[in-house]
Amino acid sequence: MPVVRGKKIEVLFSASAIAQRNLELAKQVAARDYRDLLVVSVLKGSFIFAADLIRAMHDAGISPEVEFIMISSYGAGTTSGEIKVLRDIDNDVKGRDILLIDDILESGRTLKFARDLMLSRGANSVSIAVLLDKRARRKASLEADFVGFECPDYFVVGYGMDVGHAFRELPFVGVVKGDT
Ligand code: IMP
Ligand code: MG
Repeated sequence: MPVVRGKKIEVLFSASAIAQRNLELAKQVAARDYRDLLVVSVLKGSFIFAADLIRAMHDAGISPEVEFIMISSYGAGTTSGEIKVLRDIDNDVKGRDILLIDDILESGRTLKFARDLMLSRGANSVSIAVLLDKRARRKASLEADFVGFECPDYFVVGYGMDVGHAFRELPFVGVVKGDT
């Protein structure tokens, strides 16, 4: 078991399993025939997944534009959770096909907010790609169009995802198991 920062990390999804899955996801995206695709990576957690998926998309023959949005959700586990745009995209989305990329779909509130925002700005379509789907935790009625893996109900880290700002750099997705 890898040890990072003195903690044992159990690997849930290996770097090679993720790379393999990204190629399949990119083919699924290519099969959709988007006309004017704008990828919107939801920061921070999606930065590694988005970087790998857009390169897999290149290999699948798609040439999207790429943008970034930073969204904060306070108290996302509660119905009163406030969601805010901390850093907006620079691009006009009117009439365009948007592909939101995020690390993990949990309650669904973050991505529902982002999708509704893009639709309110006149996007032609909004699709969602997530590396992980934690279905057991869903609160909003929202499905992703492209899902890397179904995720068991653990708090996961790595491949862009953090706990207290740590572990984003791990090339795999894992669960922190405790001190060595
Ligand atoms: P939700 O779908 O609005 O509940 O928010 C999902 C967001 O919460 C993701 O984009 C992550 O940033 C964060 N998140 C949810 N579950 C985890 C986890 O297991 N590890 C790290 N971040 C998580
Ligand atoms: Mg996130």
